[in-house]
Amino acid sequence: MTATAAFGDAPGAWPLLGHLPQLAGRPLAFLDALPAHGDVVRVRLGRRTMHVVHEPGLVRQILTDRHVFDRGGVLYDKVRAVIGNGLATCPNAEHLWQRRALQPAFRRSLTERYAATMAAETEALTARWRPGQVVDLTRESFRLTTAVAVRTLFSAGISDRAAEELRAALDVLMSGVYTRVVAPAVDLVPSPARGRYRRALAAWHTGVAEIITAYRAAGTDHGDALSLLLSARDADGRPLTDADLCDQVATLVLAGAETTSSTLAWALRLLAADPRSGDRLHAEADTVLDGRPARYADLPALPFTADVIREVLRLYPPAWAITRTAVHDTELAGRPLPAGSVVMCCLYLVHRRAALFQDADRFRPARWTDGDIPRDAFLPFGLGATKCIGDVFGMTEATLALASIAARWQLTPATSRPPRPAPRLVLSPGPLPMRLTARRAA
Ligand code: HEM
Repeated sequence: MTATAAFGDAPGAWPLLGHLPQLAGRPLAFLDALPAHGDVVRVRLGRRTMHVVHEPGLVRQILTDRHVFDRGGVLYDKVRAVIGNGLATCPNAEHLWQRRALQPAFRRSLTERYAATMAAETEALTARWRPGQVVDLTRESFRLTTAVAVRTLFSAGISDRAAEELRAALDVLMSGVYTRVVAPAVDLVPSPARGRYRRALAAWHTGVAEIITAYRAAGTDHGDALSLLLSARDADGRPLTDADLCDQVATLVLAGAETTSSTLAWALRLLAADPRSGDRLHAEADTVLDGRPARYADLPALPFTADVIREVLRLYPPAWAITRTAVHDTELAGRPLPAGSVVMCCLYLVHRRAALFQDADRFRPARWTDGDIPRDAFLPFGLGATKCIGDVFGMTEATLALASIAARWQLTPATSRPPRPAPRLVLSPGPLPMRLTARRAA
């Protein structure tokens, strides 16, 4: 397959702008049309060319050949400008020591402890829900996962006010970064949106600095990510500066919060449109939980809930695009690829390849038990040395939250308008007004 991968050019480039208008306006419709033009499709971002790749063998080559493909290009430049040079954004040369420093915080043995916080935060979120109320599920899910991120990875010393300010700032930043990637000119023109973005960035830096100060002041080993980072050494054996710590904190919250919240929000929205899967999920939650919140020990008894999450990660992978820049001249599928070329591994398109997944565009969680799934073409957490460090954390959080919510609540869309997915840094479902119906006395 790889050897015969077809190259093509995306049609409809505008003079000067290339395909930026399509990417800014209707990005998913634009992406959906690309496979018809090849396995590697050249897309123009202004004067730059980006190679969109969606053949699994080529994606594997790009993500694992770290001598040739590094984290670089316009997306990483913009993200680094916001969150700095942390584990998820640093170039290969700085990656190893950072990964080693953080890996112990993601040990499976710690996940059980984190799961207790996940359960408590899900309880706190849904305790505010009232029967008949309409909530924006995307916001609610994000509220949950930022709270979990803050309370687990940095488990002490954070005021409620600081946590709340961080959440609000993240919201603005997540959409602002994507806007700056597709339309960099927004920073040149004064506007209310630019003002909001700048204020959010400042609030973010202040909030993160507050967390670090609280940790240093406490001087205790809390056995969490920040405690580990405070005792970590960089590649030259030096302790991390406050600026380094700030970057890592920002990276972990940014990489973990919206990815997991989008997964949960999509799951509840897709289930509402698929009563058979919804009933099966409720039945599983009723049998296992009988109305109580889900705990870590319940996970093996919640296989269908986990399949729902897998199916969501297939159809709407939060990390829908992973970009890399070729640092040497190389070749891709037999064609020369000069140094400096930007490639985008589009997981959204990989997971919807008609030749690999039957009825590829359909939400069908049962496929994970019924069917023959090409698991090596299912890559929601990426591949190789930079594979998601929080994969178990994210799966655990999404599965437990979905089961706990399903045990007590039925969610129905409050509008007949279908979701309008917004591929920002994360493939978010956009606003999701949903009506809450209590299934049991809460
Ligand atoms: C459903 C949830 C999640 C999805 C779909 C997801 C997806 C991904 C993907 C695709 C990558 C690879 C990026 C690359 O190769 O450049 C990645 C990396 C990363 N993720 Fe996640 N992630 C999720 C949850 C989390 C959570 C909960 C955390 C932290 C608590 C986290 C932290 C990170 C970090 C730090 C990296 C960089 C790892 C490295 O370069 O060594 N992620 N994630």
